[in-house]
Amino acid sequence: SRIVVLISGSGSNLQALIDAASTPTLPNARIVHVISNRKAAYGLTRAANASPPIPTSYHGFPPYKTSHPEDPRGSYDADLAKLILALPEDQYPDLIVCAGWMHILSPKFLEPIDAAGIPIINLHPALPGAFDGAGAIERAWEASKKGEITETGVMIHYVIKEVDRGEPIIVKKVQFKEGESLEDLTTRIHSIEHVAIVEGANLALDSKRSGSS
Ligand code: GRF
Repeated sequence: SRIVVLISGSGSNLQALIDAASTPTLPNARIVHVISNRKAAYGLTRAANASPPIPTSYHGFPPYKTSHPEDPRGSYDADLAKLILALPEDQYPDLIVCAGWMHILSPKFLEPIDAAGIPIINLHPALPGAFDGAGAIERAWEASKKGEITETGVMIHYVIKEVDRGEPIIVKKVQFKEGESLEDLTTRIHSIEHVAIVEGANLALDSKRSGSS
């Protein structure tokens, strides 16, 4: 199976997918294309350094503010879908994985991708419904400091138009440690993300193959 990965940052989750692809933890799968909305995303370098190198695309938002002033986000999202659907056959995805992707995907992206029958999954470093949106790890850490919550987690979920609200396919709980720094919690959570994203990709591909997604 062919996986296209969307990134915005360091790409440590992308790296986990690259390392697992075509091994027993992610069998019969290849990362065939990486798309970033940030030109400087280190994940682009990780793709270029893979062996064999993974083709990459930079799809930046800023130009859309002037080229499509009437609907910059909708045009950006529609073009992102077009970019993916126009990939050559050997890079055409069976699955799209959002891995540290920090851009809300609107129906202008979701509808054509759904129509093409391509599932999209997303990594979110929180429990279902807990801290939707950006900064989830820090927000959970602060809530734990106030004694409001005793645990957080990491989930992989199908992407729908409501942010971080799609059906979860992997949920991993993370217990807080008394007096732990935000940095240490973040490190712990990232290592759990790297396991979750590979498991989530497997499950999404399995259910696509069996037609139950
Ligand atoms: C994840 O917590 C992701 O949600 C956030 O950055 C972390 C990992 O990003 N945006 P990356 O995979 O290392 O780019």
